[in-house]
Amino acid sequence: MTELGAFVTQDTTRWLLAGVAALIVLIVTLLSFRKKPQVSAAATVEAMKESSAILVLYASQTGQAESLARRTAASLNAGGQAAIVLSLKEATPDLLQHAAQALCVVSTAGEGDAPDEAMRFEHTLMKKRVELGQLSFAILALGDRTHGHFCAFGHRLDAWLMECGARQMRGCVEVDDLDPKALAKWDGFLSSLGAGQAAEEEIVFDDWRLAAREVLNPDSKAQKLVRVDLQPVEGQAQRRVVWQAGDLVEIITPKGHRRDYSIASLPGEGHVRLLVRQKADGDGSKLLTETLQPGEILKLRLKVHANFHLPEGSGPVLLIGAGSGLAGLRAHLLTAMTAGRPCWMIYGERNPVTDGGACDELIAWQDKGQLARLDLAFSSVTDGQGRYVQDALVGRTKELKEWLADGGSVLVCGGLDMGRAVDAALRRHLGNDWAEDAIAAGRYRRDLY
Ligand SMILES: Cc1cc2nc3c(=O)[nH]c(=O)nc-3n(C[C@H](O)[C@H](O)[C@H](O)COP(=O)(O)OP(=O)(O)OC[C@H]3O[C@@H](n4cnc5c(N)ncnc54)[C@H](O)[C@@H]3O)c2cc1C
Ligand SMILES: Cc1cc2nc3c(=O)[nH]c(=O)nc-3n(C[C@H](O)[C@H](O)[C@H](O)COP(=O)(O)O)c2cc1C
Repeated sequence: MTELGAFVTQDTTRWLLAGVAALIVLIVTLLSFRKKPQVSAAATVEAMKESSAILVLYASQTGQAESLARRTAASLNAGGQAAIVLSLKEATPDLLQHAAQALCVVSTAGEGDAPDEAMRFEHTLMKKRVELGQLSFAILALGDRTHGHFCAFGHRLDAWLMECGARQMRGCVEVDDLDPKALAKWDGFLSSLGAGQAAEEEIVFDDWRLAAREVLNPDSKAQKLVRVDLQPVEGQAQRRVVWQAGDLVEIITPKGHRRDYSIASLPGEGHVRLLVRQKADGDGSKLLTETLQPGEILKLRLKVHANFHLPEGSGPVLLIGAGSGLAGLRAHLLTAMTAGRPCWMIYGERNPVTDGGACDELIAWQDKGQLARLDLAFSSVTDGQGRYVQDALVGRTKELKEWLADGGSVLVCGGLDMGRAVDAALRRHLGNDWAEDAIAAGRYRRDLY
């Protein structure tokens, strides 16, 4: 560490100053390793003033950008450079104006959108010009070309920082689907800043066995929706078999791609349950729904998905999803019902006769009085009465407001198109301000794909 290099002196004052500097480096280093930053922006500004720490900002939907931001900070630390890691949701103009260097690791979500945690930053701060003439910055932008709007949020952030007078240390590094070559470019840039070799976070895929499988819509004209129950192979890695509602599994497909699936069960049920929609020629979905045979093994790891954990408190919960989106909601429903939180579920499928299999459990919970409200929306019915989940909200503004008034939360899971339609409906009924505030406060959470 350069600050610690100044240690070699007999001068007591310099020893003291070096001691203070070391303490600051230690504090900011510890801050950078904390899993959930809870430090206030004001405290961070104070720490920035006292040290030469590099600010590492992230905006992440499913956790990859956050994890790369932490890895970035760890590499800087390994080279003796202090770094502070913060979500963009905690970044204020004051903070940015006190930083000399900022490295931003941001993904793009939705259709070219900022991740939810950065939505307020983009819709408020990025609408203004903040004087940032003192700041040098670089951006690592995560994206996926198959989604279009490639790395759009990273580019908007890049353009805004330059408009504010900040200086680009290097051009935006675009990363397509975590391409290792692009990530190596970022590592090269970090080396030029004096970063060292941080210990790599060990990513372990364990062996899991297919315990049971059931097609929930065998007579449907739609693609198969399949319940897949998996159990860890005994004698290995039991240490990691813990998760909570909202978390994901990641699998490696036969073609070597990594695919995420929402965990539909709770650990007490004795298996990881997935609800998988088979895609025609789908690499990962075909493996889970067809190729893998009961008793056979696949590589899998559990992934914390903090942005989709159940909002804290005892308030009511409104859960909205369609099709395989039930996977991301079922464990939340179980957790919230057990905690005695009032639950309202709006679930959509195609046809009640051929695609209603996943609804039976929901209906049973409603019959037992555990699920306070259940609305089922079937889109493909012969009488012309087809409706989608967002249609279940029509004419119910008052009911919605009452449900969400007292610490209520909304969780939405499923396809991106459904998510957008539900978002538009919620904004129509409750207003844009409600949506922006609820997203910023973590009371409106989404797991879309
Ligand atoms: C956070 C998260 C949670 C998820 N949870 C679930 C869940 O609970 N249940 C679930 O079913 N899914 C879930 N998914 C989606 C899942 O991860 C996979 O994306 C999905 O199963 C399709 O992957 P695949 O490998 O089967 O298909 P792929 O091989 O990726 O192909 C998908 C389809 O696109 C076509 N295709 C592939 N590449 C191209 C191309 N370049 N151009 C044009 N067409 C192409 C294929 O022919 C196929 O029809 C989730 C995704 C995320 C990000
Ligand atoms: C629902 C969804 C929408 C996405 N939309 C885009 C997009 O519009 N543009 C883009 O470049 N990448 C898009 N991506 C790809 C992500 O940016 C990429 O997977 C990234 O690595 C995710 O990082 P995160 O986990 O930090 O959010 C999307 C991914 C998902 C699951």
